[in-house]
Amino acid sequence: MKIAIGCDHIVTDTKMAVSDFLKAKGYEVIDVGTYDFTRTHYPIFGKKVGEAVTTGEADLGVCLCGTGVGINNAVNKVPGIRSALVRDMTSAIYAKEQLNANVIGFGARITGEFLICDIIEAFIKAEYQETEENKKLIAKISHVETASENQADPHFFDEFIEKWDRGEYHD
Ligand code: RB5
Repeated sequence: MKIAIGCDHIVTDTKMAVSDFLKAKGYEVIDVGTYDFTRTHYPIFGKKVGEAVTTGEADLGVCLCGTGVGINNAVNKVPGIRSALVRDMTSAIYAKEQLNANVIGFGARITGEFLICDIIEAFIKAEYQETEENKKLIAKISHVETASENQADPHFFDEFIEKWDRGEYHD
């Protein structure tokens, strides 16, 4: 399995440790940078991780920045990416099993290196549960993405709000 991994300059050391951990576990790592501690901008590396996954070059992605907020936002703007910013096992496993997340993000100044490694391994091993409900949820997430040019429309979510009002909205 190939894992794309990217970070910004303030957590390159953690990224290298995570990369070594993954290699030791037998995974192929595609390190998209950054590679040193020279100031840079996390959207560049979020985009690179996302594109590595959506092009099929990598099976899954890992994003790291100081808080994780910046790079996780960036990678989620790449069409086809579902990334979860997590600090715990439960959220990581949920993200894979229910939403088929294809990237996982961390604040490497927030969460310790060993915990990050354990969570990534759990995320990789968790299996997407392809139920009708999960497929519908993922389709709705994709609908937000693909219809983004229409989001200024005040009726964008009317269909779902009306279903909610009718008590039909169980997911
Ligand atoms: C450093 O640029 C810092 O702002 C960044 O790593 C991250 O914490 C943003 O979410």
